[in-house]
Amino acid sequence: MGSLAVVGSGIRPTQLTPECRSAIVAADIVLYVVADSVTAATIEGIAVESVDLGRLYAPDQNRRLTYATMVDRVFEEVDAGRHVCVVFYGHPGVFVDPGPEMMRRATSGGVKTIMLPGISAADALYADLGLDPGRDGIQMFSATDFLLRRRDIDDSVPLVLWQMGAIGQERGATEPERKYLGVLAERLAEIYLPGHRIVMYEAARIVGYPPSLDNGTVETLTGMPLTRASTLFIPPARTVDVDAGVAEQLGLVDD
Ligand SMILES: C[S@@+](CC[C@H](N)C(=O)[O-])C[C@H]1O[C@@H](n2cnc3c(N)ncnc32)[C@H](O)[C@@H]1O
Repeated sequence: MGSLAVVGSGIRPTQLTPECRSAIVAADIVLYVVADSVTAATIEGIAVESVDLGRLYAPDQNRRLTYATMVDRVFEEVDAGRHVCVVFYGHPGVFVDPGPEMMRRATSGGVKTIMLPGISAADALYADLGLDPGRDGIQMFSATDFLLRRRDIDDSVPLVLWQMGAIGQERGATEPERKYLGVLAERLAEIYLPGHRIVMYEAARIVGYPPSLDNGTVETLTGMPLTRASTLFIPPARTVDVDAGVAEQLGLVDD
């Protein structure tokens, strides 16, 4: 019976971990979706056989159909009894629709399967913005999901909105979509006061380059630089006082 390893390659070529590299080298075939040509060349250089699944994206096709085709292509190989490794850039279980679906299908078919973590855009953001989620917590959504479900937001907790360049988009376009930034700005204005700082963030995909950090406000959002890799960071608007009763219950009151 075949096996399936779903692994992450990180955000830039130097972030491919030794365990993910080993999974790529050990596989009979590697199918990959990565965001830079150096990582693609590395995979092709160390894999016995490799297939670029990114070629399945088509500008006019619904992404869900593309993901289903990716899953089917992977299972052609798994069902043929091969040891298969699938590589997604970043972390393979973070904002990757087909990754968890591949894991589910493999597990339900009794196929030996593993997911290996990679360095995600969230990890890069923590480093580049000096943000420790252990301090005030963190709220993360795709920008589209945040709007569609009118997510309840705690404005004392940092907010990170993913897939800023694909708001309301179901197709596999390569250009960022700006059409609905105004809808997002309106929703954010219900939560944050005018002038509240926001940061459009993109981690460097080339080793040695700095990250792209564009400061703005909710009012300037619609004119801010945007790419398909943009992630929006919104710092907290207020701090929350410690509950004195709970502090006492926990024995955390100074004598
Ligand atoms: C399909 S998700 C893939 C996320 C990836 N699996 C990860 O773990 O980072 C694509 C989204 O990730 C974020 N992203 C990808 N590359 C990024 C980068 N270089 N800098 C900041 N955010 C990035 C953006 O929000 C983008 O729309």
